[in-house]
Amino acid sequence: MSARFKAPKGTFDVLPAQAVPRARVERAAAELLGRAGYGRIETPAFEDTELFERGVGEATDIVRKEMFTFEDLGGRSVTLRPEGTAPIARAYVEHGMHKLPQPVKLWYAGPFFRYEAPQAGRFREFSQIGAEAIGSDSPLVDAELIILLDALLRELGVPELELRLSSLGSGEARGAYREELQAFLRAHESELAREVRDRIDANPLRAFDSKDERTGAVMAQAPTILERLEGDDAEHFEAVRRLLDEAGIEYALDGTLVRGLDYYTRTVFSFGCPRLGAQSEVGGGGRYDALVEQLGGPAAPAAGWAVGVERIVLAAGSEEEQSTSDVFVAAADDRREAALALVGELRRAGLSADLDLAGRSLKGQMKQADRVGARHTVILDEDGGAVLRDMSSGEQTEVDPATLAETLLRGSG
Ligand code: HAM
Repeated sequence: MSARFKAPKGTFDVLPAQAVPRARVERAAAELLGRAGYGRIETPAFEDTELFERGVGEATDIVRKEMFTFEDLGGRSVTLRPEGTAPIARAYVEHGMHKLPQPVKLWYAGPFFRYEAPQAGRFREFSQIGAEAIGSDSPLVDAELIILLDALLRELGVPELELRLSSLGSGEARGAYREELQAFLRAHESELAREVRDRIDANPLRAFDSKDERTGAVMAQAPTILERLEGDDAEHFEAVRRLLDEAGIEYALDGTLVRGLDYYTRTVFSFGCPRLGAQSEVGGGGRYDALVEQLGGPAAPAAGWAVGVERIVLAAGSEEEQSTSDVFVAAADDRREAALALVGELRRAGLSADLDLAGRSLKGQMKQADRVGARHTVILDEDGGAVLRDMSSGEQTEVDPATLAETLLRGSG
């Protein structure tokens, strides 16, 4: 017997009923972000490995152990993109977008890849929608981005949204805080999980994310960056908070909020939905004022976010939805040609129309119309007549196929 294949571990097929709610997420994002002046950008699914090493950070879990990296046939190391911000910063530099009016506002949607342990809401290939505003350090940018994400998630029906907000500071204050945290961690080294201990030098902030109980007890006593913000950083954060307050956006300040990417400076935020369980973050982001320069571009402070499409669909409880059609054309055997011509006409008029392609009896076709969720069925009978049936009321009327499109459009209008 020949082998039967399955989708690779941590990946999944999107079947038509699942494609409907996913498409709705993308449509809502396209409309909302389009109205806010964000233009769509598409970058390749793979990039030079070094882009992520430098952009996302060598000490992050993503770069250390989650990238799908391989050598292409030309001997170059390439990586399936684990996230979208570094590629977009690369594109900003490559296309000289700093010459455009700033900030440049971009949005994207597509597949991303991380070699993570699969579980509910966590996959090895998943879909993100993201927005990036590059070229301004105004707190208005941070606030606008958060307001847009809040609006998107609400429109899509994600329940029990919780927004956590923090600032990681920048420059010297951030460096000083990092040293203070490292000293604190060293003083408690014997109580920390091995993984946390091993990363005191490279990535001390990640200690806040540890699931280990004893580490958690230590970290509850740790100093947080929010207590150490000063000067411009403190002012920037105050301004973001004021703007969110004015917009009526509720949030919880959380000085332990660290994100798994090293490029963040100043504002960071995360939208969670507790209903999702362990992987409760629906989306998040923050400022990354140094990334563009770090990738060889001009100074271009920036901010952005990304959401997981699968997590939105899971949280909103819309995993499966059948698409419906306006009309199903059922035909007696000698009227199948007429049926094909009629669906063509109806589709040209802008209606969704379907017909039987499997040689079913008229009765079987009526059942099929029901199964595909048609709102109306037209029956082309043996005598050359045509009857329109409203599938919810069961009401039937004689119709003229020549004016059917008009009749249906009038009815739905
Ligand atoms: P991130 O937090 O790593 O941020 O990912 C954003 C969202 O993608 C998460 O909140 C989650 O919903 C979804 N996600 C991440 N990993 C997985 C996975 N393995 N399976 C399913 N969903 C997942 C970023 O990627 C940043 N680039 C966001 C950003 C944009 N920051 C600034 N600009």
